[in-house]
Amino acid sequence: MKIAVLGSGAMGCLYGGKLAEAGYDVTLIDVWKDHIDSINNRGLHIEGIEGERTVRSIRAVSSAGEAGPCDLLIVFVKATLTAQAVESARGIIGERTSILTLQNGLGNVEKISAVVGEEKVIAGVTGHGSTLLGPGKIRHAGQGVTVIGELNGAVDERLRCIGAVLEKGGFDVKLSQNVMGLIWGKLLVNIGINALTAITGLKNGRLVDFSETEELLRSAVEEAVAVAKGKGVILEGEDPVEHARNVARLTATNRSSMLQDVSNKRKTEIDVINGAIVQEGKRLGIPTPVNKVLYNLVSVKEKTYEEV
Ligand code: PAF
Repeated sequence: MKIAVLGSGAMGCLYGGKLAEAGYDVTLIDVWKDHIDSINNRGLHIEGIEGERTVRSIRAVSSAGEAGPCDLLIVFVKATLTAQAVESARGIIGERTSILTLQNGLGNVEKISAVVGEEKVIAGVTGHGSTLLGPGKIRHAGQGVTVIGELNGAVDERLRCIGAVLEKGGFDVKLSQNVMGLIWGKLLVNIGINALTAITGLKNGRLVDFSETEELLRSAVEEAVAVAKGKGVILEGEDPVEHARNVARLTATNRSSMLQDVSNKRKTEIDVINGAIVQEGKRLGIPTPVNKVLYNLVSVKEKTYEEV
């Protein structure tokens, strides 16, 4: 099976690296030249919870065209770049290519479907945490389940096959009949953790150490739950506020992806996390004042990177 990973930051490298270690033919696609050169010349260095090693059986390219046709395209670009990235990869998406999105944020499934058609898309969420340490280097910071599902809820041959590929890559996989509910479940965690860590500079676990941040985490998640219910999303599992708190505790030493983005003065995913809740809330007439404040504060941070 030929696998291409579109967007090879921390998470793309983790999935691509582990799949290459399992023997799959993996090509990472990214625009960061130093990162690509480093992977091609010295291999992909992975450290962290599964030990330190260098994966040499992996290739990195700077444009999708160089990757060639693939059987599975895993999309890991920032949610703000999804439409543009998938459009640029059209040439490597054949009739039998499946596209798996494991990205954070709302709207990725819709954006990918608009380019390639819904039937090609499989969606999912990942419980893994990874940090980009520098060109060609990541730290695998935490692990959890990778849950994937067909958009129509079917647990079919294709889903089982992709699940088996991920399992061979060492991922703990579950197949879901309610993948949109899961994406919202993950979104609620990101709603509670990401902007708050980006604004305060705190690691995930510290958010539950202070009543002030706990209160904001709770309110942001509760507003988003009201929006999810307004949209008819079926949420699964434990109480979403409790779940966001638990994830903060379980990933206590992680710097969230949004905190990593603001620390590196990069565009964040605020538009498709808290921003998406504000937009959907407006449409449904559901107030989302805490999400609006978090959205505004992170947006101002992004706009003033050069001033601080
Ligand atoms: O975006 C992230 O960083 C992660 O989704 C999470 C779960 C908040 C852990 O850091």
